[in-house]
Amino acid sequence: MTRPYQQLVLICVHGKSCPQQGSLDLCAAFRQKVVQLGIQDQIRVVKSGCLAQCGHGPMVAIEPSGEWYCTVTSEDVEPLLEGPILADKPLARLRYQGKKDGKNVLPRDQWPIAATSDPS
Ligand code: FES
Repeated sequence: MTRPYQQLVLICVHGKSCPQQGSLDLCAAFRQKVVQLGIQDQIRVVKSGCLAQCGHGPMVAIEPSGEWYCTVTSEDVEPLLEGPILADKPLARLRYQGKKDGKNVLPRDQWPIAATSDPS
């Protein structure tokens, strides 16, 4: 059985921190680059709900590899495409490993990427 897409790139855009840390711009940049490269039939960029790692974002999860990346910015789109997504080479500097299984939420004053807008 074949899959409709070889890989999914899930970008958290609906939680309480990632959108304020630039994930919507990141998602747009990812989609633009995928189209520019003509690989939109292989790679599907998906707007995700909260991945329960709030504050570490913007968070990106890649399937089916199961690799997660944190503090991803628009400047990281090409390195992520060229490494883990298209060449199966993990990008160590952004690779995410939660401190524990499941939910890992940072207090706002510990976010590695500051909010670009106020949540209220
Ligand atoms: S807001 Fe992105 S992981 Fe929760």
